[in-house]
Amino acid sequence: MTVKKILTAPDPFLKQISKPVDEVTKEIQDLMDDMLDTMYDAPGIGLAAVQIGVPLRVIVMDISWRNEEGIKEPLYFVNPEITVKTKNLSTYEEGCLSVPDQYAEIDRPEECEINFLDYNGKKSTLNAKGLLATCIQHEMDHLEGILFIDHLSNMKRNMIVKKLIKTKKQSKKERIVA
Ligand code: NI
Repeated sequence: MTVKKILTAPDPFLKQISKPVDEVTKEIQDLMDDMLDTMYDAPGIGLAAVQIGVPLRVIVMDISWRNEEGIKEPLYFVNPEITVKTKNLSTYEEGCLSVPDQYAEIDRPEECEINFLDYNGKKSTLNAKGLLATCIQHEMDHLEGILFIDHLSNMKRNMIVKKLIKTKKQSKKERIVA
């Protein structure tokens, strides 16, 4: 298992639509293991494969492990599809490992139902609400090349992207000095 590099905006790689997985093979399971290691290391509560440079419809999540108890409860979603979502919206302040240190309030359907393949390739259904529903929708946006900042006004998004570009330039300078 390996911690991979996470791509950050405005990297155009993140804008592509991820491809469905044909079958949950050992290779896909290895990918999910690496994604989980990368997510825990970052640290974050969700990661899509495209964020580590693999444009496949694979997501890992764990919304429990950063609680006081710190118990790890990883979730794996291959080829997830939203089958039902509520009209009611809920609002969370979101961040993203591909948009470092930036946060914004985003409205999303409060509850949703998702069909997917699990770690062992078994067809599964999940009814999600609250943070779980928001997180899975955030991750599924990644599969369509959408970041949470794409839900903001152009002005707010441009402001955040400018900050990210500035930070990237600064970190490059530091690398040269070292
Ligand atoms: Ni994200």
